[in-house]
Amino acid sequence: MLGLLADSCGFSTWRRLEFMDRIRIVGGHSLRGSIPISGAKNAALPLLIASLLTEDRLTLKNVPNLADVNLLVRILRNHGVDLAVDGKRSSPSGHLGDTIHLTARDIVDTTAPYEMVSRMRASFWVLGPLIARMGEARVSLPGGCAIGTRPVDLHLTGLKALGAEIDIDSGYVVAKAPKGLRGAHIVFPKVSVGATHNVLLAAALAKGETVIENAAREPEIGDVATCLTKMGAHVEGIGTSVLRVQGRDRLEGAVHTVLPDRIETGTFAMAVAATGGDVLLEGAHINDLKTALDILGETGTSVEATEAGVRIARNGGGIQPVSVETQPFPGFPTDLQAQLMALLTRASGTSVIRETIFENRFMHVQELARLGADIQLHGDTATIKGVKELKGAPVMATDLRASVSLVIAGLAGEGETVINRVYHLDRGFEQLERKLSACGAEIERLSSG
Ligand code: EPZ
Repeated sequence: MLGLLADSCGFSTWRRLEFMDRIRIVGGHSLRGSIPISGAKNAALPLLIASLLTEDRLTLKNVPNLADVNLLVRILRNHGVDLAVDGKRSSPSGHLGDTIHLTARDIVDTTAPYEMVSRMRASFWVLGPLIARMGEARVSLPGGCAIGTRPVDLHLTGLKALGAEIDIDSGYVVAKAPKGLRGAHIVFPKVSVGATHNVLLAAALAKGETVIENAAREPEIGDVATCLTKMGAHVEGIGTSVLRVQGRDRLEGAVHTVLPDRIETGTFAMAVAATGGDVLLEGAHINDLKTALDILGETGTSVEATEAGVRIARNGGGIQPVSVETQPFPGFPTDLQAQLMALLTRASGTSVIRETIFENRFMHVQELARLGADIQLHGDTATIKGVKELKGAPVMATDLRASVSLVIAGLAGEGETVINRVYHLDRGFEQLERKLSACGAEIERLSSG
């Protein structure tokens, strides 16, 4: 994978090269050892965006080296954010995090262009901070993984309540707040992670108090709220569905460490459950993933919190079927739905998964079927009949979490699986092949370059 800021070959060149990369897996090996958990992608992205709120330096530690982070860094640079990176990455088994210093002394451009925002949905979250700091913003409507229609109405309603005037013009959200933003009472009709981030970030620089009801409670929101508090805004209710934000005229710099990635943790936990073995997920926070780990326990996998992280083991014994529904935090995360499905393809019985967050998040089903999985889809519900074994096959990665479900199935299957279009994986998993092969998996990247 490419270094965080080493984009001298240009993002488009990088995309062409990575687009053709494939991953080859020879399945049937159990996983044993330890895997260091990286900083959370979905916290690092809004934290990087928070740098737009202050002219002082924001230092973020434990930032994962991912394609999405690289892309956001380019977008932020376009707005005028200066970046410096500290610290070399150590050995694969060591600490993987990077430290990034961001300084947005002068915002030179308040437009976030289509070419960039259409590639990653989270970059739309620059909207709130730009309006709050500059009184104007022009941000392309977003793209991102094709897992549903993914509207932005809640983001816009929230920002309007804070006083932004918003128009849509030629695919862009054009926002103005000539008198600045002012605190408001916002009740979201539906839980949205992105809308909560966008409004929370904007509220930190709005005049007075903002109350966000029915806010998302994901740990990544809490991480951003904690960082904003270090920057001088006061946020109460962290971890609950009611956030109270005392905005400030000016925010200060801060130093903040990105929390461990709970979805990466859950993904490796499912992989160990699928292949069998015993792995310590170093640095993982068990409380950020309680529902998913409880479900894993129900499948017959042992889950143990230790001082060093979370230990996952399945030695002998079959995989028990389960029934699960995805829900906003603290429920079972949609971002682990595909990985759980890969595990359940080999359960001794029939499991049911209902996807309630995104309407098109079952693209992995037909690819899992290539490996021999028996899955029936009816609307938002997948019925998975466990099979005795999966057999390796060529498959296609379709979105970030779907791709990694194919890795899990490949690791648990017999023979060779080749996954095409792995650039999806590089958006959200740091050193995936290295981490898995260090635990005994036979997995390699077939590079096109
Ligand atoms: C965030 O996406 C995550 N992305 C997603 O992770 C995650 O799947 C999702 O939250 C749900 O947990 C990041 O954190 C960068 P939402 P987001 O707004 O914010 C509807 C991954 O794999 N909605 O909580 O885009 C929406 O259509 C990614 O890492 C509206 O109707 O998700 C969906 O049905 C993929 N109107 C539901 O809310 C809006 O204005 C939840 O979406 C906004 C959302």
